[in-house]
Amino acid sequence: MSKKPNHQGSPGMPGGTLLRQAAIKVLQAVDEGEKVDQALAATTVSGPERATLQWLVLGTLREYLLLQKLSGLLLRKSWREEDQNLGFLLHLALFELRHGQRPAFAVVNDWVEMVETLQKTWAKGLMNAVLRRFLREREALEAQLADPDLSHPAWLAARLREAYPEEWSAIAAANNRPAPLWLRVNTQRVSPENYRELLLAQGLSCHGVDWSDAALCLPESIPVATLPGWDAGWVAVQDAAAQMAAHILAPQSEERILDACAAPGGKTAHLWALGARRLDALDRSAERLQKLREALFRQGAIAHLQAADAGDPESWWNGEPYDAILLDAPCTGVGVIRRHPDIRLRRQAEDVQQAVAQQQRLLEALWGCLRPGGRLLYATCSILPEENLLQIRAFLARHEDARQQAHPLTGQHLPGQNDMDGFYYALLVKAG
Ligand SMILES: C[S@@+](CC[C@H](N)C(=O)[O-])C[C@H]1O[C@@H](n2cnc3c(N)ncnc32)[C@H](O)[C@@H]1O
Repeated sequence: MSKKPNHQGSPGMPGGTLLRQAAIKVLQAVDEGEKVDQALAATTVSGPERATLQWLVLGTLREYLLLQKLSGLLLRKSWREEDQNLGFLLHLALFELRHGQRPAFAVVNDWVEMVETLQKTWAKGLMNAVLRRFLREREALEAQLADPDLSHPAWLAARLREAYPEEWSAIAAANNRPAPLWLRVNTQRVSPENYRELLLAQGLSCHGVDWSDAALCLPESIPVATLPGWDAGWVAVQDAAAQMAAHILAPQSEERILDACAAPGGKTAHLWALGARRLDALDRSAERLQKLREALFRQGAIAHLQAADAGDPESWWNGEPYDAILLDAPCTGVGVIRRHPDIRLRRQAEDVQQAVAQQQRLLEALWGCLRPGGRLLYATCSILPEENLLQIRAFLARHEDARQQAHPLTGQHLPGQNDMDGFYYALLVKAG
């Protein structure tokens, strides 16, 4: 089930129409290829309505393919090109009817009224009829949406089913649920015990993991600015699966460490918190590097930052070998679909090969920057074997001086397991 915010847009609420208009625009932008985070950032909806907008848009995107199937069952023909916005509206309305708290009649009325603001008055009757038919035949229609393959693009469902025949249904279900809010307590500023108490005092209960007392999970998302000590950098938002990286790399203060694909900096700051004091952070994107700079500043972490292509060491490396390297490689993101529901719409089958080639290029280049005896942690937020197990297997076959070191946190983590994102880690050690 999708999470329901406390504060839903309601018929009488000023701005309700604006919110719905913004939601249609965001879906349109995503359909045209924009990332949902950027499209949301471009809207002017603020205050409590912002949470409703996010709930509506992210939830609709999470169920987009199911809602497409549902619309197909309800409509006799598909929308004409110029009426695509009616399709977005219908998806949003169906999502709210399936998961919202407002009475169905109010939901139907509001979305039918929206048809007019799109200047498509002719479609009001149709929209009304379709939404009412959904309510009437709901049970039979819902039964036709139960197949987990329907909620993912066919190519992805096929690959994941093949890779994880036993786990596929659970993976699909996890991808269709909103993610919880995982926090990492900045132990340089406050102790995890004290922070837990601060959360409890605010009425927020949480659970954790057995390998780090700094990882805390709140079952529902809340605006981060309301978290105790947010501005003072007492806490960062970071999924527990992502928090494993710094624990596996286990930095020592005297070691020279490279975070090769570092922005927006979640893992860089964590490496600092766990003791790294000679830390270089690279990212190809200057824009994302700015986010990293802000994150480090808020959490009081220090690193030497460079905007550069990690795959071209000649352009940035001074030749002094690293003791440890984190390669949090660019990937398809197929392990974090629950956080970025637009991934399942934007990602194409061809992207996998591109990601694999780029990861291989980065691995090869960075291996040369590692001292003998040094370690490289390879990470992705994907669950596709090509990007993970098979990538590392091929690397080991090409490099006689590489061996894989066992660690309790390495390997493939699947989305939803222990409430975490899907992540992969392989720790490689260079013969010394
Ligand atoms: C998975 S994200 C990293 C997340 C980050 N480690 C964190 O924990 O916040 C991958 C990053 O790699 C960067 N990137 C992609 N190709 C790169 C390259 N050739 N060299 C350096 N950075 C690259 C992207 O800009 C992106 O910020």
